[in-house]
Amino acid sequence: MSETIPAHLSLEELDRQTLLHPLTHVSRYASGNSPQRVVERGEGVRVIDSHGRSVIDGFSGLYCVNVGYGREEIVTAMAEQARTLAYYHVFAGATHPQAIALGARLLEMAGPRMKRVFFGLSGSDANETQVKLVWYYNNVRGLPKKKKIIARHRAYHGATIMSGSLTGIPLYHGAFDLPFGLVRHTTAPDPFWGGDMDPARFAQQCADDLDALIRAEGPETVGAFIAEPMIGTGGIVPPPPGYWALVQEVLRQHDVLLILDEVITAFGRTGAMFGSDVWGIEPDLVSLAKGLTSGYAPLSAVLVGERVWEALKEGSDRHGILGHGFTWSAHPVCAAVAMANLDIIEREGLAANAREVGAFLRAGLAARLAKHSIVGEIRGEGLLAAVEFVAEGAPRRHLPKEWAFSSRVSALCLEEGVLARPIPFGDIIGLAPPLILNREDAALIIDMVGRAVDRAVSEH
Ligand SMILES: Cc1ncc(COP(=O)(O)O)c(C=O)c1O
Repeated sequence: MSETIPAHLSLEELDRQTLLHPLTHVSRYASGNSPQRVVERGEGVRVIDSHGRSVIDGFSGLYCVNVGYGREEIVTAMAEQARTLAYYHVFAGATHPQAIALGARLLEMAGPRMKRVFFGLSGSDANETQVKLVWYYNNVRGLPKKKKIIARHRAYHGATIMSGSLTGIPLYHGAFDLPFGLVRHTTAPDPFWGGDMDPARFAQQCADDLDALIRAEGPETVGAFIAEPMIGTGGIVPPPPGYWALVQEVLRQHDVLLILDEVITAFGRTGAMFGSDVWGIEPDLVSLAKGLTSGYAPLSAVLVGERVWEALKEGSDRHGILGHGFTWSAHPVCAAVAMANLDIIEREGLAANAREVGAFLRAGLAARLAKHSIVGEIRGEGLLAAVEFVAEGAPRRHLPKEWAFSSRVSALCLEEGVLARPIPFGDIIGLAPPLILNREDAALIIDMVGRAVDRAVSEH
């Protein structure tokens, strides 16, 4: 241990003196002035901290533990794979049975539009790969200027240089000299803040804005549009009716590829195996991670559709072998975990459960919170739910920033026994519990969030 770190520190103190944490106020944390929780165990939908306190994980870690904690079947698959073949790569024609099985399974699940799978480790690297594929595609087509990528404000696509640029959240840009040059952002499809427009009209407005941006940039310079099927980290907002049909029409007109970031929405989260099934989306490229392994091991996948696959084949004669890949691409232990995880999702019908229990959760929250005029909207899809708080009266306004209302509600939720995430686009708390959630635990969440909101309201 470093000489500057005294021995015999508590776990909490040792952490504050050693780790640089994501999404954390660095100096406050280091000096002990911001919250900290040491999570030691997980069981089903619950996590247990270092004080032995058990709470419902209403956010599945970071929207990822779809099958819940402590699944022996996955643990066994992991151990057996580590024993049989802990590691091998997939470079230069090498492969292994787990990569082959998982690749075939994902293509089968995705349907005939998708032709190949590329494996990585995180949602960020999946989106990084997507951008490289789009650039490669247009180089092969002899369109070297067609390289810009349009993302949406309030998008979250990751935190690396390119995926962080695609992310449409200023916090990820300001101090890091991002976004990187070839990225543009268009309107976030959140009809709640769409003024007086009805949602269908707002969907048209979003498509018109995208069309106008592509024309202003020059369609010959725009390679792809990237989006989540529904806004995730930017506020958990399902798209307004008609949005995806209108947007896809604009993309077709301008020969712009569609990268669908299904890192949150796939594997049952939205009540279907993929978000594209819920909203009728036909992507050229798909990014997968999180629920692919339910967080038991890091793994991402890029699904490559026909157009890009044809260009990759053609390009290899010209450019030689594909200059892209990671040491851990298709890691056998991670692939074995994914196989066991998908077995559970399919066998236990977790997409259907997410649909059914998710609807129960949102309806229960709506009934429990109906008395609070500060609650502007309760929305979601499958087991994704958001409660948005607004100031009273018209026109619609945000609450005073200094109230930090959603952070307060989130802190009170934790006191009541459920982890719910504050989302900083206005005042929103988000829920994304494990897909194994039953009605009894959903009812507990409704009560806990209800009491937390009662308490937060009574403070003002
Ligand atoms: C939609 C979406 N894409 C990409 C990412 C980035 O994934 P990772 O954190 O694994 O890099 C996230 C993470 O939350 C996400 O929600």
